[in-house]
Parts: sequence; C-alpha cells; structure tokens
Amino acid sequence: MAANLIRYDFCDALIGTQTQADFAALRPALEAAWREVKETDLRRLHGKEPTPSDKQPLDAAFFELPEKLLHAYQANRDSSELGRILATAKRLQEEVDRVVVLGIGGSYMGARALMDALCEPYFNEQSRAARGSKPRLYFEGNNVDNDATAGLLQLLGNGNACRHLEDRWGIVVISKSGGTMETAASLRIFLDRLRSACGGDAERLQRLIVPVTGKHGKLYDLSKALGKQDDELFEVPDGVGGRFSILSAVGLLPAAILGIDVVRLLEGAAAMNQHFRAADPSKNMVLQYVGVCNVWEQQGATTRVLQVWSKALEAVGLWYDQLLAESLGKQGRGATPLTAVNTRDLHSRAQQHQEGSRDKLYHNVIVDQWRTDPIAIGKSELDQDKLNDLAEKTLPDIMSAAIAGTNQAYRDDGRPTANIHLPQVDAYTLGQLFQMLMLATVVEGRLIGINPYGQPGVELYKRNMNRLLGRS
Ligand code: PA5
Repeated sequence: MAANLIRYDFCDALIGTQTQADFAALRPALEAAWREVKETDLRRLHGKEPTPSDKQPLDAAFFELPEKLLHAYQANRDSSELGRILATAKRLQEEVDRVVVLGIGGSYMGARALMDALCEPYFNEQSRAARGSKPRLYFEGNNVDNDATAGLLQLLGNGNACRHLEDRWGIVVISKSGGTMETAASLRIFLDRLRSACGGDAERLQRLIVPVTGKHGKLYDLSKALGKQDDELFEVPDGVGGRFSILSAVGLLPAAILGIDVVRLLEGAAAMNQHFRAADPSKNMVLQYVGVCNVWEQQGATTRVLQVWSKALEAVGLWYDQLLAESLGKQGRGATPLTAVNTRDLHSRAQQHQEGSRDKLYHNVIVDQWRTDPIAIGKSELDQDKLNDLAEKTLPDIMSAAIAGTNQAYRDDGRPTANIHLPQVDAYTLGQLFQMLMLATVVEGRLIGINPYGQPGVELYKRNMNRLLGRS
C-alpha cells in the first residue's frame, strides 16, 4: 500500500516452527474465506445467488458502503446521503451548543470511537470558539443508569433552551431496530426535557431531534408523530448490521457534527477495500491478521488483547471488542477481546500479560506520528526525581522505548505480538483501520464456519428483562 496507509507487522507473532507451519498450511482455507467475502457474499447480497440458511442474516453491505457513499456524493452532492449528513451537521452546529447522542452497541460505539480518537482530548470542556463552533457531544441511551442520566439532565438544565445558543441542545437518536429498551427509555426522558425547554414549540422541537433508524419500527413511527418528513430522517442501510454501521449515518452524522472529515474517513475505508480486494494473499494485511489470530487461537490463545498505545484510541479498542465479541462469540466458540491502553495498563495488566497463562495474542496499535509537537522532559534544578539524564528525551521517545521494551519482553518469553502501525491518527487512517477490522472479522467468521452477522444470544436477556418488567 502507498503512503499514509496503515501497516501490519507480524514477524513477532510467527514465533516457533509449528506456528510458521500452521500459518503456511492455513493459506488455502484463508483464501477460500477471502473469496467468499469479496465475491460470493456480495453475489448473495445482491440476489445473484441464494444465501444458505446458515449464512443468514447476511449483513455484508458494509463492505461496499464507503465507495457507494462517496460515488453518490460526487454525483449528487447535496441530495446524496453524505450531502444530507453534512447539511444536517452544519444546521445543528449553527443551532445548538450540545448534542446528546442516544444509542447503544453498534449504534453508539463507533461514534464514541470517532470522537475520542479525532477530537481534542478535552473537547467538551473547551469554549465554543476553541471547538470551532462545533457542539459538545454527550452519549446516553447506552445504559439505564439513573445517576448518569440524572447527571446529564442536570448539565443540560431546565431553562429555556431557545434563548441563548449556549443553552440550546438537540438529540441525535440512533437505533436500527427502533425498539431497544435503553435507547427508547432515554429518548422518552430526554425528549420530555427538550419539549419543555422548547416551551411547547413543536416545530422547533422536531428540528432539534434527528433520528437514525430503519425504514419502519417504533422510532420511525415516533419520528413521524413528531412531524419528521422522510427526508429529515437518516437510515441505517439495508444489509448493514449495527456493529458494522460506523461508516453509515450511524457514525458519520455524529462525526460530521463534530467537524470530523467524514469524506476522508470514507476514503480511508475505500483504500482498505481496494487493498483487500487486490493485494496478493501473501501481502494482504486483512488475511495476514486473520491468519495470525487463527493459528494462535488453535494453540490456545483465546484471549485477543488489543493494546492501543494512545489514550485517544481506547474507544476504538472498545468498538473492536464489540465487533469481535458479538460477531464470533457463538456456538461455544470465539476469541475473547480485551482492550488495554498502554502505557497506562502496563501498571495494571502487564504482570499477567508477561507471566500469566499463555492464552493471549497481543496486537499493538502504534501511532507513528503524534499530532502535537513532542514535549521534552526538560532539565530541572529539582532533580530529586533523577530525571535530568532524560532531559532531552520527549514523551514520544519514552513511549517508543516502552513499546519496544514490552515487545522484546513478550518475545523473549515466547508470547506472540504483532503491530498495527497508524502513520498518524486522522480520519483517513482510522477509516482504514475500522474497515480492516470489519473485513477481518467477517473473513475469520467464514474461515471458522461461524456466521459473523446477527447476535441471537443477546435476545435472551431482553426476553427475561421484559418478563421481569411484567411484559409478555
Ligand atoms: O451490532 C448490533 O447489531 C448491536 O450491537 C446493535 O447495534 C445494538 O443492539 C443496538 O441495536 P439498535 O440499533 O437496534 O438499537
């Protein structure tokens, strides 16, 4: 791949002759899974061949989504989905100073990951001017936590939200099914507050709520009752599952509200698609990643640790936790994902990772170039901390030493490690990373015979919860 593209380096993962032999032996099965994802699944999706029952649901439309959205935007600009997303984001930027994003699971984690990775670390604390006149963003509807909900309601206040821009807030509510308890309950509560803040102005109220949902369902019906026209709603496209929806309006609308370059994000994903489709299997980083994961899982590494070496990437790790857990945790199988943020978690998890049970594969996500200028340790008269010998070193220098030192320690003890390098954290590289991990998850599913789409197990808790709430 060309410049500004992410890089996968797995030489410290193929330790031992058995692992290398297993990796080589996996190649035919891996290539078959690759062809299924890039060719057969798409033919099935477009109705050109039947989908076997064990491959249903088939939510493979996420694959082509970046190119589709970009092409439509180039052809139709304002009337395209992306054009509408950008226009709505601009309107909300002008009309409100806070946006509450309601959603859970795949309808939440992507937007959270994008905000944390691509906005300033203390974005919500900044003045409107420092935020570039972008609204602060808050996430709710991802729990039924009374204190958290009360805290956000208190922050939003009871006042007349129509008077001053700083007091005005709006809601983006995201639910594909439109019926998820956590999101629906939160919407009712926040809608009630917003209605009183709008002083009964129904036209204003409906402008301040933007739903992202399916073509029908309870949220769709509620949106209609609020006076929303179809062209004021955003859809989760057909054939795109919740946790694969980050590059639809589900992730793009909150990102655009924050001023994130969503076109670059999609271009990054399209670049990864191009690589995935065309790169030789021996150089195809999606297949390499799946191969490394699979051979180690066969050897008992059933915990997959994603060590992100940047605080900003923690929510990216949590997004991947959900993607992997809900996609492949089925039929008594599937690796357990675990996100670690280093160097922070070197002081909490590393002891176990270094000397604990050998059931883990470590993937580092490494940022090659920081956004900000390197901060030096500096010389001090107060050298009681004995840091003057490092006065010329910077925080990135220490980070690099910690990464190399940790990798070496794991390697010396035969613990498998691989690196995903991000040239820098920006919309383009993150678009690649999200698409890479989604493609890898479905390739792995096809490889091990587990349908990566759907999450039948989650229904059980919902049924019990509803029964306990007195619903049939
Ligand atoms: O990946 C999935 O499909 C799930 O995590 C859903 O996103 C989550 O359950 C929320 O569903 P909905 O968007 O229908 O409210």
